[in-house]
Amino acid sequence: MVERSSLPLRRALSEDVPRLEALIARSARVLCAVDYTTEQIEAALTGAFGVDSQLIEDGTYFVVESGGRLVACGGWSFRKTLFGGDAAAVRDAGVLDPATEAAKIRAFFVDPDHSRQGLGRKILERCEREARERGYRRFELMATRSGERLYRRCGYVAAEPIDYELRVGLTIDFVPMAKRASSAGPSRGQPEGETVKA
Ligand SMILES: CC(C)(COP(=O)(O)OP(=O)(O)OC[C@H]1O[C@@H](n2cnc3c(N)ncnc32)[C@H](O)[C@@H]1OP(=O)(O)O)[C@@H](O)C(=O)NCCC(=O)NCCS
Repeated sequence: MVERSSLPLRRALSEDVPRLEALIARSARVLCAVDYTTEQIEAALTGAFGVDSQLIEDGTYFVVESGGRLVACGGWSFRKTLFGGDAAAVRDAGVLDPATEAAKIRAFFVDPDHSRQGLGRKILERCEREARERGYRRFELMATRSGERLYRRCGYVAAEPIDYELRVGLTIDFVPMAKRASSAGPSRGQPEGETVKA
């Protein structure tokens, strides 16, 4: 039986950024390698995969820590940017209208040594709950092939994959996905052992 992690979530802080960048690189280089080439992953790490400091400032990005190491991260956003770190080319900090627009699920990365222990799902449930509390009734995201497996399992429906241009002559396939909050089911209650510092 796969061991479920009971590690607590906390909100990310600006001082976490260097360790978040290291976690994202570690996660992408190992867990995305079954779906993408090294060239695609390294190019994605210069923009498409990365820390979005806006989410940390907004208090909507979460981390899980184990033994002084960050082992999982992910968040949600009430802003229009769909994906990408601070270095990404297309960003829009405009606020989404919960009546008509979907909250964004953003930047989930789990340490390879901690994958398949329920951390991705745990952060996702927390994000969906907070977005629902803020009035959002739909969630959407741009998934990697790796992320697609998690999000499908959690009720997200995939649209046609897109070819995202990482740089001239190099693309990567990402999968737009969405879910209605009504199909999200009730919140599973308070997250266990949560430590909120922000
Ligand atoms: C996607 C990712 C965040 C999932 O995190 P995780 O903590 O391993 O996921 P969980 O343990 O919560 O998985 C929940 C369920 O999703 C599905 N799932 C997750 N990863 C899977 C995989 N590699 N293969 C098949 N199913 C998978 C399973 O149904 C799993 O439940 P189970 O383990 O009981 O079968 C992680 O694989 C990752 O960091 N990938 C690299 C970075 C990336 O691409 N991030 C997504 C950006 S959109």
